[in-house]
Amino acid sequence: MTTSIVVASGKGGVGKTSIAVNLGLTLSRVGRRVALLDADFGMANAHILLGVNPEHYIIDAMNGKVSVAEAMCEAPLGLKFVSGGSGLLEMLNLDEKTRYQSIRMMDEISSQTDLLVTDAPAGASDSSIAFVTAADRVVVVLVGEPTSFLDAYALIKAAHIEGNVRNFCVIVNMARNDTEAKGHFNKFNDIVSRFLNVHLYYVGNVPYSERMRQSVVKRKPLGLGDQEWAENRKLKSISKAIMDSPTNDHAGVKFFSNSAVLAESEPA
Ligand SMILES: Nc1ncnc2c1ncn2[C@@H]1O[C@H](COP(=O)(O)OP(=O)(O)O)[C@@H](O)[C@H]1O
Ligand SMILES: [Mg+2]
Repeated sequence: MTTSIVVASGKGGVGKTSIAVNLGLTLSRVGRRVALLDADFGMANAHILLGVNPEHYIIDAMNGKVSVAEAMCEAPLGLKFVSGGSGLLEMLNLDEKTRYQSIRMMDEISSQTDLLVTDAPAGASDSSIAFVTAADRVVVVLVGEPTSFLDAYALIKAAHIEGNVRNFCVIVNMARNDTEAKGHFNKFNDIVSRFLNVHLYYVGNVPYSERMRQSVVKRKPLGLGDQEWAENRKLKSISKAIMDSPTNDHAGVKFFSNSAVLAESEPA
């Protein structure tokens, strides 16, 4: 069975793509067959972080030009990657039906994939919520700033109210140390649990690191060689905690869901 993880955030610039890419690579390294979907359609940039130049985008598969498998490119460590395309204006404002189509299209790669990691668009817009509610596990990336708290709260609220999502994993990015990161999580959890009937699971933190920043500039993900950096150890423990967290099993349009549920939920 293929399971799905979506990496989401309230606001942009918090490290969502960096974490989605590195989670994909970390899970691929331990032998899982992982696909990464860059669902920031039209503004996709995960290929930059991976250091790959995709020949095709998801839209080519949607237009029937290629299959999803053909639209995927080989990324490091055996990771398969599907780009959402950047600078493609027609991809920026997809309607509900087209978003639904992109989620359903991933069924094609189910037999060759153990795990799908999706980099969702930032925010609580319909496009972001569609991918958040489609995944078995939702990972919210938080940084220790009031704006990030506010926007992550809005995202969780929308996913809960519109998609009935109850379980959220939280990663704190760019804190100075473990204590500070846990403090940010506790503060955020206090606010959320006061107003929303959801569960937040702290799955760990990635500290602020110049190496993380430089890996983007160099277009070379951390930990491709023999060296295992502290950041890679953090990501390993985060990925384990995510895989151990409870899944969301609400009805609706989900990645790799069975056809009975699909027939009920397909939008007109
Ligand atoms: N843990 C980290 N330490 C230092 N810089 C980071 C870290 N995580 C991400 N960054 C940097 O933050 C910027 C935004 O990251 P990105 O992954 O593109 O965020 P998003 O997808 O949320 O917009 C990039 O310059 C990236 O290198
Ligand atoms: Mg991004």
